[in-house]
Amino acid sequence: MTPSLNEIKKPVERELKDFESSFKDLMKSSVPLLDKITYYIVQKKGKQVRPILVFLCAKLCGNINASTDVAASLIELSHTASLVHDDVVDNAYERRGFFSVNALWKNKIAVLVGDFLLTKGLQVALETKNFRHLQTVSTAVQQMAEGELLQMEKARRLDIDESIYYEIIRQKTASLIAAACSAGASSVTEDETSIRKMWLFGEKLGTAFQIKDDLFDYGDDEIGKPRGIDIKEKKMTLPLIYALNNADKTTKNKIINYIKNDSENPVKVKEVISFVRSMNGLSYAEEVMYKFQNEAIEILHTYPPSDARQSLEQLVYFFTTRKN
Ligand code: IPE
Ligand code: IPE
Ligand code: MG
Ligand code: MG
Repeated sequence: MTPSLNEIKKPVERELKDFESSFKDLMKSSVPLLDKITYYIVQKKGKQVRPILVFLCAKLCGNINASTDVAASLIELSHTASLVHDDVVDNAYERRGFFSVNALWKNKIAVLVGDFLLTKGLQVALETKNFRHLQTVSTAVQQMAEGELLQMEKARRLDIDESIYYEIIRQKTASLIAAACSAGASSVTEDETSIRKMWLFGEKLGTAFQIKDDLFDYGDDEIGKPRGIDIKEKKMTLPLIYALNNADKTTKNKIINYIKNDSENPVKVKEVISFVRSMNGLSYAEEVMYKFQNEAIEILHTYPPSDARQSLEQLVYFFTTRKN
């Protein structure tokens, strides 16, 4: 059985405590409305897997220091900003088990709150002269926007194949997770080979993470955010792509037609979901997820055993077994 996140965090517990309190302070603003909203957001904190990765990867490659803390804050602020914006883009009204920012304060405000969080992160790196982190995270955030836009383009044309799906999730999700791992490494070492290796590790891990997220959307379990929303938003994810590619022409056309014209109709969405299940789309996606997971583990095994390596290994398994 995979240990709990609390167990996994142990080697960097103290660093994470300090991070949490400075993260809270960073979220403050003198504008009352903004302060109220950022307070709302920190009350409902997420799993914080990215800061955990920053600290564990730093520990794997050297000695955690002030620059590691900056990387953790910059990355979690960028991640939080991306969620606030993503819920506007996806018309999603639930996040972390509560109402999303756009659900409570509407899109206009959510867009500005996301901007605030993103620039706050950039400022932290600038003020502390951590230009390398700035470079790493800007690259990731740019890719995130590109990934989300590529996804939207494909949602309009519904002509996505597996390789484009991997490109989309590498950009929209894996890049920030890769940034977390490589910024953790670059905060403690100048060894470029190791920093690059940590980026690659994060990419594999982040890809598995998003496949798991896409599987949740087809599942029956409560995950603190909407389910069945991907089909509604015409998002073609791996289970659906696989099912369509293996269906006969008539069925394929029928299902694509449902997605194109009836994605707001819950009965038709249900039919698409049963189609995906019956074509083994979910088990195929799981298989692919495990492939990425194993590639991530292989990269970890090029490092000598340590408590950081052990926790990272457990975190890799947590990514594919998590319940939300
Ligand atoms: C959600 O990320 C967005 C995706 C990339 C799928 P997390 O699952 O890490 O979100 P929180 O921070 O724990 O809520
Ligand atoms: C990942 O995609 C979102 C980001 C890049 C922020 P999703 O749209 O699937 O993420 P969730 O399911 O809303 O968390
Ligand atoms: Mg979303
Ligand atoms: Mg999702």
